Amino acid sequence: MNRLEGKVAVITGGVQGIGRAVALRCASEGAAVVVGDLQDDDATAREIVDAGGRAVHITMDVRQRGDWKRLVDEAVGGFGGLHLLGNIAGVTNTPGPDNVVDLDDAGWDHVIGTDLRGVWLGMQAAIPRMLDGGGGSIVNIGSMAALKGLENLAAYSAAKGGVVSLTQQVAMEYSPRGIRVNCICPGTIDTPILAGITDSMRENFVAAHMIPRLGRAEDIAAAAAFLFSDDASFCTGQSMPVDGGWNAKGSAG
Ligand SMILES: NC(=O)c1ccc[n+]([C@@H]2O[C@H](COP(=O)([O-])OP(=O)(O)OC[C@H]3O[C@@H](n4cnc5c(N)ncnc54)[C@H](O)[C@@H]3O)[C@@H](O)[C@H]2O)c1
Repeated sequence: MNRLEGKVAVITGGVQGIGRAVALRCASEGAAVVVGDLQDDDATAREIVDAGGRAVHITMDVRQRGDWKRLVDEAVGGFGGLHLLGNIAGVTNTPGPDNVVDLDDAGWDHVIGTDLRGVWLGMQAAIPRMLDGGGGSIVNIGSMAALKGLENLAAYSAAKGGVVSLTQQVAMEYSPRGIRVNCICPGTIDTPILAGITDSMRENFVAAHMIPRLGRAEDIAAAAAFLFSDDASFCTGQSMPVDGGWNAKGSAG
């Protein structure tokens, strides 16, 4: 499928995990991709270029407004526009406990600053450039923690719940002007973020899904590509679980 031919995408968190899969999928569907990540590693962009696509890596921090300017300037200056934004970069854990009582200011600021403020800054930087080109599509990443109470994820739940709400609010204002804004709430996806979990934790994560496996980064990338594409031209403001059925699962069995 070449649904994203002629489009220019900015994808954060693109060095590994879900962001990498989204960047590769966008490129495979024809988009030029600006890969942004805190890690100074251009392997994803090189893989796209080696396969005949167009991509560049920018080392950046989603918490820094100036870094976002560099990212969108690269899209417009280097590839001629900005049509797609994937706000994928995120952190799950605070350095310490993420329990509402034990959480400290640094932990709160780390997670809220990256997972919520970073998403705001991304949309703030991208939307004016998308409007210049007549519209676009934004995909944010939420979490099951935005939809359910999950243990030891206080700051993370607040951040991801904020992303879900911000998605619908921004969609309300910009959908009439040609920018669709959606969010994906993944189940547990087998990415480096799970490094260090025990076998029993892994089994519990699998058991939470109706489909008895962990998700793959490519599962989320396929959903993101759909939401980016014109196949989703009537979808906006939505937070879509891609979660092996976790959100729909009843409590008995
Ligand atoms: N893996 C899961 O089970 C799961 C479930 C629900 C939601 N998510 C969300 O999906 C997104 C990606 O998760 P993942 O599993 O691929 O994680 P990951 O840790 O494998 O990848 C995250 C990427 O984001 C980058 N990053 C982190 N902080 C950054 C910053 N300040 N600026 C720029 N880049 C930064 C990292 O360098 C890394 O490349 C996150 O928003 C995460 O909260 C993941």
